[in-house]
Amino acid sequence: MAIQFDEKNLLADMVGRNHGITRAEIERSTPKALKALKSFRKLSDAGLYGFPHLPFQTAAIGAIRRFAAEVRGGFDTVCVVGIGGSALGAWALDCGMRGPHPVQGAFTPEHPRLVILDNVDPDFTHAALASMDPRRTLVLVVAKSGGTAETVATYLLVRDWLEQALGAAAAAHIVAVTTEGKGDLFALAQSQGYRTFGIPENVGGRFSVLSPVGLLPAALIGIDIGKLARGAAEMTHLAWQPDLAANVALRAALCHWLVWTRKAKPIQVAFPYSNRLWGAAFWFRQLWAESLGKARNRQGDVVHTGQTPVAALGTTDQHSQVQLYIEGPNDKVFTFWAVNRFASPGKLPKPRLGLPAFDALAGQSLAKLIDAERRATAAALTEYGHPNCTVTLDRVDEHHLGAFLQMMEFQTAFMGELLDINAFDQEGVELGKKFTFGLMGRKGFEPYRDQFAAYEKKRAV
Ligand code: PA5
Repeated sequence: MAIQFDEKNLLADMVGRNHGITRAEIERSTPKALKALKSFRKLSDAGLYGFPHLPFQTAAIGAIRRFAAEVRGGFDTVCVVGIGGSALGAWALDCGMRGPHPVQGAFTPEHPRLVILDNVDPDFTHAALASMDPRRTLVLVVAKSGGTAETVATYLLVRDWLEQALGAAAAAHIVAVTTEGKGDLFALAQSQGYRTFGIPENVGGRFSVLSPVGLLPAALIGIDIGKLARGAAEMTHLAWQPDLAANVALRAALCHWLVWTRKAKPIQVAFPYSNRLWGAAFWFRQLWAESLGKARNRQGDVVHTGQTPVAALGTTDQHSQVQLYIEGPNDKVFTFWAVNRFASPGKLPKPRLGLPAFDALAGQSLAKLIDAERRATAAALTEYGHPNCTVTLDRVDEHHLGAFLQMMEFQTAFMGELLDINAFDQEGVELGKKFTFGLMGRKGFEPYRDQFAAYEKKRAV
């Protein structure tokens, strides 16, 4: 597998004893990591958690591919209506395979545009609708629960927009991706005759990129989802190996756990040196934050654990964040995401300008420069005693992207085991959602409307 994890700059030999871990510590903790692997494997085999199985679900992948082939050419825009785990995977895949949005190639029915409506900002939604042609747009409404307020509200607007242009034919432009047989979106899809793709019950939103949540939009915009799945399957085989040298996800989880908990690093900076991995950085931010930020451990003890993920882009954020990273508090661990081979090296011309700043770079390449800048930043952080590590993808293609996303999901799941927390729930976001429903007058949420009113009263004093 051409994905490597390099932990050298996490070691005390490189960053000093106060901020670095030792090989001996890694060895002493290896049994704990293997226990985490075993316990997660047991939960996965029992069917409690489904993401490890997704790359092997060939029937579901085949159904998505057939549908994409069936509708290809009929649409020039795919519009995802969803939020959080129901949107970020699609963005990570689109950005990874087709480049960041402002510089994607021309859109055609063979190469449709992807518009993700993942916020209820009315101006954003209005502008997005104005930019699409309802006759040429396929809308995917994605919600595992089937009732997320933002998704439901945006769907109502989008449906109206489609119906005004297409009348009864609007239904053929809507696909629902939701839990099979459950929830209001599924009921609606049944009653309206929408095409439906099911999200397995045991796959949570932030772990759903390789389910229809991510694979359906990916296939519709022309990404080879078979290759994505094969890369993820390869990583899954590795992630079950009880050998830390081969199992990069487990080794990364163990090293991060040691640095975070023993060297007091409450912040992790995910630092891709590739614009194509920028979407994945935002996807990872949700995965790490929502999975590992927990009030209680599995025994019910109050732990308030969590590591704040920050996304930074190399080299851009060297000119924005690195001053803080180098001279500010030593409370962060950095994970560089490196790419060995870029699709286009960006060879620089060689004019003789007689000016040192220009002549030094002439004839070289952007690929060499971005690599030098990453290695230089890692060296500078290390010299200042800041622990950092590097995940390297040989290149950003479907195979490596599938493997990388699956590695991050395994790493997160293993970290949950090491911390002895449930990485798959998200109780913390419930109260805010309930207050919103209370404020919007949803039936059954009157107690939350009243609790909110009491809070407002307290604020007014
Ligand atoms: O990871 C999660 O579970 C969440 O971020 C969900 O994806 C998000 O809240 C959206 O939920 P739903 O898909 O039910 O609309």
